[in-house]
Amino acid sequence: MQKNEDVAKHYEHGNLLGAIENAIAVLGKTKNNVTIHDLAPVDEFHIGGRAASEHFLAHLAFDKNMHVLDIGCGLGGGARFTAKETGARVTGIDLTKEYIETGQVLSTWVNLEKQVHLQCENAMAMSFQDAYFDGAYMMHVGMNIEDKTALFNDVFRVLKTGAKFGIYDIMQTGAGNIAYPVPWAAGRPTSHLVSMQGYIEALEAAGFQIIQTENRRDFALDFFKKMKAKTQANGGPPPLGLHTLMQASTAEKITNMVGNISAGLIAPIEIIVHKP
Ligand SMILES: C[S@@+](CC[C@H](N)C(=O)[O-])C[C@H]1O[C@@H](n2cnc3c(N)ncnc32)[C@H](O)[C@@H]1O
Repeated sequence: MQKNEDVAKHYEHGNLLGAIENAIAVLGKTKNNVTIHDLAPVDEFHIGGRAASEHFLAHLAFDKNMHVLDIGCGLGGGARFTAKETGARVTGIDLTKEYIETGQVLSTWVNLEKQVHLQCENAMAMSFQDAYFDGAYMMHVGMNIEDKTALFNDVFRVLKTGAKFGIYDIMQTGAGNIAYPVPWAAGRPTSHLVSMQGYIEALEAAGFQIIQTENRRDFALDFFKKMKAKTQANGGPPPLGLHTLMQASTAEKITNMVGNISAGLIAPIEIIVHKP
């Protein structure tokens, strides 16, 4: 489908692994001693990075006996962190082939390739059998997916009874024109922002029960404020960061996103549900 190709194209870099290799060399690291902590600024592609994942994951209570699905895993930073923190086995799927190929290499660098498996797959056409996973999550993916009801129906299908599903997405919080480009889209054709209520209705229609929700707006604004101060103090960004992914368009995309959040139009929100 053209839309999926457009989404993948938006995220494609061209030489992402090379860029990460160059950046870790500047950090004085090699693929033999780099850690998941070193990689977090580039492989956790959502507002708040690793700190946001820590907060989000704490609600999901995954453990070492579980097999967990990461929907739209990107480079797999969240998947590797989940695996390392909880001991769970993690399968990540993503539309963007370059992210999956790069992410698989990063997993070997940090010796997690047996626990974390990443594969190029569309969340809207998942190949997994029914009741396959013990838990699932997605971070900053739903903004690219128009039919959230169909997505949540299929997530419901692949989860076992009792499984938790966590969503950490950017949602619409007010009416008004969103400034584009933003990190997930160049413009409206591939941006599908919905309110938290819209998510909840789609989740409930699929059969999920809501456990809790949390608006992370203040955390987000504080995160960007600190990031800006650090960049200014250091005279530029660190070797590895979201600019490694978004390259020349980084400043414009981040400025627009922060402006949209400050204006009350959007906010990153967590929703935790379970399959009864
Ligand atoms: C902003 S990135 C977030 C990546 C990752 N979840 C993270 O937090 O680091 C959004 C990701 O969603 C993926 N994506 C968007 N639509 C998708 C779909 N229909 N199926 C699978 N992946 C999708 C994109 O390819 C991209 O890697």
